Amino acid sequence: MRILRSIGLMKRELSAHRRKGRTVGFVPTMGCLHEGHLSLVRRARKETDISVVSIFVNPAQFGPKEDYLRYPRDMKRDASLCRKAGVSYIFYPDAKSMYPAGYSTYVRVRGLTENLCGRSRPSHFEGVTTVVAKLLNIIRPDRMYLGQKDAQQAIVLKRMSGDLDMDTDIVIMPTVREKDGLAMSSRNRYLSADERSAAPTIYRALQEAGVLIKSGNGDAAGIISGIRSKIRPIAAKIDYVSVVDTKELKDMKNIKGEALIAVAAWVGKTRLIDNIIVRR
Ligand code: PAJ
Repeated sequence: MRILRSIGLMKRELSAHRRKGRTVGFVPTMGCLHEGHLSLVRRARKETDISVVSIFVNPAQFGPKEDYLRYPRDMKRDASLCRKAGVSYIFYPDAKSMYPAGYSTYVRVRGLTENLCGRSRPSHFEGVTTVVAKLLNIIRPDRMYLGQKDAQQAIVLKRMSGDLDMDTDIVIMPTVREKDGLAMSSRNRYLSADERSAAPTIYRALQEAGVLIKSGNGDAAGIISGIRSKIRPIAAKIDYVSVVDTKELKDMKNIKGEALIAVAAWVGKTRLIDNIIVRR
């Protein structure tokens, strides 16, 4: 495994592999890796010849009051996890080479980014699409692996790749959870012991909603208020509980076909997100 920091070198290495007919699988991350990230890495390893993990805490996707500086970083541990998982390259650029002085190009996906997390984090997705567009241009992978944990992000990136005629297939993998159901996240380490034991309530509320929907309940407002009342006791603040379609991420009134049930809530000072996809 090699750790490369230079954009130029990364491009040259991967062009050489491509010339030899090797396929490239790519897992973009912000580091502080856990089993969720590693499930994507393993799939990339299985399906492609050369696997690349990027580790870059992307300043462009954090709002001014968010946790960019505090976001956990642990390159030594990440490198050892990647090595064990059989990763070929870690791409580990610094912010100055990704966004040099005079940087002025941003990618925005309209519509899809306006609901859910886009409401409370207005410039977040522009930061995500911009950095991932750059990473895709540098790495030019055959496949990029994303987690359903960040369902809106995955749907937005899929749209971007299609709209901009990028040659990368996007594979979306299921959310990896702790034994008690809490979705794995680098931010879980912010939780105090009490908050950590309360946090699985979010997934439990989602599951109970899923059971109701599958048994025929299509009333989104009722489903949402059921989830809210289960989460309220453990959440400092609920950012949103939404039921949307999985194509355009528009709010559904009557649940029909495939629906994304998504929650963002503050547990203490930590903002957690989770979701499930159900069919009715
Ligand atoms: P990060 O939060 O590090 O997540 C990297 C990838 O891992 C994303 O595709 C995310 O959905 C996936 N992932 C995170 N937790 C997961 C879990 N519990 N189960 C399955 N997959 C999980 O998402 C980002 O970084 C950034 O926004 C990025 C795409 C790298 C752009 O900066």
